[in-house]
Amino acid sequence: MSESQSLTLTDSAAGKTAEFPLLRGTLGAPCVDITRLPKETGYFTYDPGFVATASCRSAITYIDGDQGVLLYRGYPIEQLAKQSSFLEVAYLLMQGELPSASEFKSFEHEVTHHTMMHEALKNFLGGFRHDAHPMAMLCGMIGSLAAFYHDSLDMEDPAQRRLAAIRLIAKVPTIAAACYRYSIGWPNRYPRNNLEYVNRFLHMMFEVPSGPLELPPVAAKALDLLFILHADHEQNASTSTVRLVGSTGANPYACVAAGIAALWGPAHGGANEAVLKMLEEIGRPEDVAKAVEKAKDKNSGFRLMGFGHRVYKNYDPRAAIIREMTHKVLADLGVNDPLLEVAMKLEEAALKDEYFVARKLYPNVDFYSGLIYKALNIPTEMFTVMFAIARTAGWVSHWLEQQNDPEAKIGRPRQIYTGAGVRDYVPLSSR
Ligand code: ACO
Repeated sequence: MSESQSLTLTDSAAGKTAEFPLLRGTLGAPCVDITRLPKETGYFTYDPGFVATASCRSAITYIDGDQGVLLYRGYPIEQLAKQSSFLEVAYLLMQGELPSASEFKSFEHEVTHHTMMHEALKNFLGGFRHDAHPMAMLCGMIGSLAAFYHDSLDMEDPAQRRLAAIRLIAKVPTIAAACYRYSIGWPNRYPRNNLEYVNRFLHMMFEVPSGPLELPPVAAKALDLLFILHADHEQNASTSTVRLVGSTGANPYACVAAGIAALWGPAHGGANEAVLKMLEEIGRPEDVAKAVEKAKDKNSGFRLMGFGHRVYKNYDPRAAIIREMTHKVLADLGVNDPLLEVAMKLEEAALKDEYFVARKLYPNVDFYSGLIYKALNIPTEMFTVMFAIARTAGWVSHWLEQQNDPEAKIGRPRQIYTGAGVRDYVPLSSR
């Protein structure tokens, strides 16, 4: 990282100037290092939503939003989607390099042998109403994991940190499937070690005690692809949440539970559920134009879900891959879903519309993913849970990176205070 150039700020009122170094990563725009700004000038910066602020240095994921580029540890997402697997991607994100055959085998063994959930966790499940949203259950269950691993929560110890990361990657699918089965009244299904990661999850979701589960090969393939594409996305809202909580020294189970809570919002991971509901509401290709007009009307309170992104001002590369897979999955499974036509018409209409063109609003990762989940019989309320399973790989990788970062500090933004000035307390009897 070179720091050869600087930016000079001039405070014309005070007649002072101050220089701030420019930081450059291996790729991407330079950043002005303003850490000394308050000391040197007495000013803070104002940046709601962190639109112009880098919160950390990270070597995990790179996005070029203008060009529609996404790299995990330098590898283009298109190549990983075509040739890798989710578990290999999880290793890559965590460890920084692709594994050798023996490294992968031992990683897979580790993950596979941490997939069981503590029997006492079932008591937590039993406390939820049967119709609780699975994201609410998942958030609570993952947060509670810290209570089960008192003996390995010394976060100063790199081996214990790694173990916690492996446990999270291994157990989140087990707990997610248990939440689903609880909600439909099915008995819990234990993870089967003879299956690989995604297939094991599908069996925990759908296998019944009375008979074996026959899954078409495209099901595991499609889900593995979706998991790869959702595994990480640099400092998005949920990952930044994990890092903010992690900055306090909180344990990784609490950090990931916080990430799950952040992911649930419809502006973030909750969008995949919202997209399907929107497509169902639109219902027919003939009604697409009306929906586009409504999304443009600021008073309607309606946005095209699955459209737009803080960073991508071009086609989200993940959406392009998922779009192609959607056609394959529906064709292989022989599913004729009229919502696919609604989605394609909606995309076509929005991409031609001046409102969306001018604002560079393109389909994002979640525009098509719901149609695949639906074809795989995954219920709509579970869509964001699917996202959480995949993103756990990214969350734990960022948490691990943060724990090793010599520049990491407790996250503590400042504010512009707009409340009352100093005033005297008036006793209740005199008010
Ligand atoms: N439909 C209609 N208009 C939109 C949409 C949309 N989906 N997204 C943005 N706009 C408009 C805004 O109204 C705004 O218009 P204006 O300039 O006239 O005021 C402009 O485009 C910029 O939008 P912002 O909200 O300022 O962009 P921001 O970067 O803050 O938000 C976000 C990004 C939250 C993703 C937004 O595009 C959105 O709400 N999309 C729908 C929800 C969604 O799909 N979320 C998933 C994101 S991807 C992920 O997390 C997995």
